[in-house]
Amino acid sequence: MREKLQNLKNEGLAQIIQATDPAELENLRTHYLGKKGALAEIAKELSRLEPEEKKEIGQLFNDTKTAIANALNSKPQILNLKPQLDPTLPGIKPSAGHLHPVTHAIEEISSIFEKIGFVRVRYPEVEWDWYAFEALNEPQNHPARDELETFYVDAPENSKLGKVVLTPHTSNGQVREMERTKPPIRMINIGKCYRRQSDVSHTVMFHQFEGLVIDTDINITHLKGTIDYFVKQFFGSKRQSRLRPYHFQFTEPSFEVDVTCDICSGKGCKLCKEGWLELGGAGMVHPNVLRAGKIDPSKYTGFAFGCGVERTYMMKSGLKIDDLRLLYGNDIRFLNQF
Ligand code: DAH
Repeated sequence: MREKLQNLKNEGLAQIIQATDPAELENLRTHYLGKKGALAEIAKELSRLEPEEKKEIGQLFNDTKTAIANALNSKPQILNLKPQLDPTLPGIKPSAGHLHPVTHAIEEISSIFEKIGFVRVRYPEVEWDWYAFEALNEPQNHPARDELETFYVDAPENSKLGKVVLTPHTSNGQVREMERTKPPIRMINIGKCYRRQSDVSHTVMFHQFEGLVIDTDINITHLKGTIDYFVKQFFGSKRQSRLRPYHFQFTEPSFEVDVTCDICSGKGCKLCKEGWLELGGAGMVHPNVLRAGKIDPSKYTGFAFGCGVERTYMMKSGLKIDDLRLLYGNDIRFLNQF
């Protein structure tokens, strides 16, 4: 009988350990502890034993019953246990994303200009005609207005400031800055612009950075020096800049700013115009623009420049993006490369 109880205990505990679901455990409970179960059968035999033996076997019987009951009672918790946390295992890195390449470019451009005392500002994207055109010496019906393919907003006109537009360039910030603060002015205005054009080199929404410096005795050498400094900082010390005569209504004289091509280093290749790539526009602030900003042109002079952020970014060495629209397509396979 001793052996029988021993075997029953071993067998019972082994079955409980192997059980994988609650129904199986219930069956085992009935089988071992039930009214007509294995232990109940043995209990019947127990009564027939001699008192001496009864004492010893009775003890073993109780131990067996307790062991099986304990195992059955604690097993459901084991079944429910989640996998244990092992703090020594290497963690799974959550994917955190990263800044958009254009945001990186904007941050880099800001910090380059901030190092030489320019103050970063932002002005409205939804703008009055006055700041976007009129104050910039571009009167109504002037053909230069057409070049910018402007979006007009269906909103009531203001008697002084005119129609509402989505600003087609960051030059709208020039007269706003003159109204905000007095010379000396060193502004870097970076913001969104909108034009009705979309192809491989244009997106309807894009960014520009606009520099404006106004002080006494500002001349073209300050403009050239500032552009040169930016070009070397942003593109690298080997790249050079030049000012090429051009026309803008709001500057006199006006220039287009070119940078040496990164492929041929200025020698001339298929991708550039005789070794040069166009960066943006610049010039000495037109006296009419200073007057619009209530600054006396006989006391102060200034220079300004404006360049596309996306275009400038594309001109960095090694970046060859065939279609500018990819930047705003939200395709993670493209964006992940930056
Ligand atoms: N606003 C001009 C454009 O979008 C660029 C420009 C030209 C800005 C000359 C300037 C400037 O500040 O002086 O085409």
